[in-house]
Amino acid sequence: MKKINKVGIIGVGDYVPDKVLTNFDLEKMVDTSDEWITTRTGIKQRRIAANNQPTSVLAINAAKKALKDANVGPEQIELIIVATITPDMHFPSTACIVQSALKANKAVCFDISAACAGFVYAMTVAEQFIRNGTYKNALIIGAEKLSSITDWKDRNTCILFGDGAGACVLAPVKTGGIISSYLETNGNLVDLLYMPGGGSRFPASIKTVNERMHFIKMRGNELFKIAVRCMTDAANKALKKCGLGCADVTYIIPHQANVRILWAVAKKLSMPQEKIFLNIQKFGNMSSASTAVALSEVVRTKKLKKGDILVLDAFGAGLVWGACVIEW
Ligand code: UT7
Repeated sequence: MKKINKVGIIGVGDYVPDKVLTNFDLEKMVDTSDEWITTRTGIKQRRIAANNQPTSVLAINAAKKALKDANVGPEQIELIIVATITPDMHFPSTACIVQSALKANKAVCFDISAACAGFVYAMTVAEQFIRNGTYKNALIIGAEKLSSITDWKDRNTCILFGDGAGACVLAPVKTGGIISSYLETNGNLVDLLYMPGGGSRFPASIKTVNERMHFIKMRGNELFKIAVRCMTDAANKALKKCGLGCADVTYIIPHQANVRILWAVAKKLSMPQEKIFLNIQKFGNMSSASTAVALSEVVRTKKLKKGDILVLDAFGAGLVWGACVIEW
């Protein structure tokens, strides 16, 4: 197998469902206010998928745009990875459902469960397969229908989440590409963010439904400080690995959990806030889809120049976190 030196992004796409749920809508559902949500999180609205739109539909829409942008036909794709914590079903993987819809019959397909860092994990895994010559290209997708596991009676969490999907096509490139990545995991803090019901530990039952165990449980305040520390550390370590520093970065493309987390990360990295790409105000926290959609938006709207440096930086349940440095 021929080893590949540089693997880069050759196409991007994103899709969010039409339905907008504003903070004012939420005021009618739980004891909250637009003022509280805006000042504590930065979120103004989020998108909610329709009943006939499972995660795969969001993923397929984003994937089609990424394939078109890359000018690659689905039959040419050799690997599809979907990062999601809201798969259509426990099995088969959502990636298999996406493969069928796209008619990407040659692709090997699987899902990655790495919560909000899922897209960064997927990019890192796909990059290895292309770099070592196993596959010529990969379609990676971050897609979530978090509204399906959100407790709409819990004001601590329901104001945070939204639905959406982002995708990109990775392939060998002549210049630039993914120049470093860094992943880290700490499984000792599972109980800070998790969904207890529906797995093999607590299979679905009347009890799990009555006890609202099929919804996200989160200790937000404790996560906040860890998120700041981990996202700062991941960006620093990934940059150091490729001999760069914060001053070299054009945009940080972070997971969008809370604007206050991102301003704290910017401060710790000594970076101006304008270098931190934000879409949380429009979409809330879309877990793995947040970084995926943000990357697509940056590529589509920011007139990137050759040599620009992008840092994907994410943190989530697990705990899992990581960063990828991409030279444009
Ligand atoms: O996605 C990856 C991982 N996730 C994260 O990293 C999330 C990180 N955490 C956060 O973003 C924040 O902790 C939250 C936005 C979730 C919460 O903000 P906070 O500033 O940490 O608030 P808090 O949980 O400490 O709650 C402060 C107060 C409480 O009232 P008391 O006990 O002080 O009277 C809450 O009951 O705010 C109250 N509160 C609300 N009030 C109005 C909590 N949620 C709401 C709400 N509306 N929606």
